Amino acid sequence: TAKSEALITDVQDWQRYLGEGVDKHPYGVPSKFEKNVIRRDVPWLTASAESSVNFTPLHELDGIITPSGLCFERHHGGVAEINPADHRLMINGLVDKPLVFTMDDIKRMPRVNKVYFLECAANSGMEWRGSQLNGCQFTHGMIHNVMYTGVPLKVLLDEAGLKPNAKWLMLEGADSSGMNRSLPIEKALNDVILAFAMNGEALRPEQGYPLRAVIPGWEGNLWVKWLRRVEAGDQPWQTREETSKYTDLLANGTSRKHTFVMDAKSVVTNPSPQAPLKHKGRNVLSGLAWSGRGTVKRVDVSLDGGRNWQTARIDGPVFDKSVVRFYVDFEWNGQELMIQSRAIDSTGYVQPSKDELRKVRGVNSIYHNNGIQTWLVRSGGETENVEIG
Ligand code: MTE
Ligand code: CO
Repeated sequence: TAKSEALITDVQDWQRYLGEGVDKHPYGVPSKFEKNVIRRDVPWLTASAESSVNFTPLHELDGIITPSGLCFERHHGGVAEINPADHRLMINGLVDKPLVFTMDDIKRMPRVNKVYFLECAANSGMEWRGSQLNGCQFTHGMIHNVMYTGVPLKVLLDEAGLKPNAKWLMLEGADSSGMNRSLPIEKALNDVILAFAMNGEALRPEQGYPLRAVIPGWEGNLWVKWLRRVEAGDQPWQTREETSKYTDLLANGTSRKHTFVMDAKSVVTNPSPQAPLKHKGRNVLSGLAWSGRGTVKRVDVSLDGGRNWQTARIDGPVFDKSVVRFYVDFEWNGQELMIQSRAIDSTGYVQPSKDELRKVRGVNSIYHNNGIQTWLVRSGGETENVEIG
């Protein structure tokens, strides 16, 4: 067209005039043309914005790192605003020497850098009884994957000296909900980090500034934000978050409890309902896969509802308990597609279909839904959340 030709031949405004100077944005912001790339909530899901959740726009992202400002938020009592100078971390209970740390104390201890996913156990929780929310942002967006900098919890526990009968820890937040959870001591001593930075900068307030627990591979609820206290005890505390919440109601009326690990899962982020196919011919299918038990070994993709599978191409770093990015480069002629992906992790575990999962778990649960997602791509490219019966 004439317009696209003019884009090549004519001098454009952004070439004709000087751009903004270097001091316009002391802390950079995305291009104004990226204004659709935002976290979104589902208004009917929760009664208030303070005890609520919003979702990572997975369909707008690439690679494996979630930009800090797009990490989904889940809080039970709003975002605590804490001056790090006033923040204290106490270690008490079954220890030889109860201790209190300032943020400066913590930043003088040996630190580590690790990339991990955090997935809320309620991710995909609205999909147990059938396909419901129209977009991977809403069906799978309670996940983020960032690089954390922090101090291994073991370093602080060693300083306090755990008593031999210390078997569990209770982690407590300094937010208005005072959210708390019990954590087995083996996990705490193995790979738990108390992080003060994400993606190279200080934690964002939404993510628990100035200090949060990082519990690799385990459900997001354990990752206590605004962490103020770690108490050592000889049994779990039976807090609200591990009894009435974050337990998995089975078909027979009993519940699974302390279901910590997030099993292998994957989702095709493009195409998806918010990112339909627009062009016939060459296309890139893209998605994310992860496992709380280790690394992702392989991702299979089907374009015909699970009849035929091909191995996707994983590109970018493959870290332990981090998401991986996968691609299938394909030709689309306008035929209907039923797109699925299936993750296989380093333990050999294969992501189940939703029906396989329901056979074992029933449909009463909210949490730990890692069933295979299906997207129906219609001949015009419109894409919908469906299930194959
Ligand atoms: N920690 C505190 N103190 N208060 C909270 O409400 N929410 C938990 C967990 N830690 C919560 C908390 C839940 S349910 C999840 S899924 C994760 O934080 C969410 O982390 P994010 O907000 O960084 O995505
Ligand atoms: Co959660």
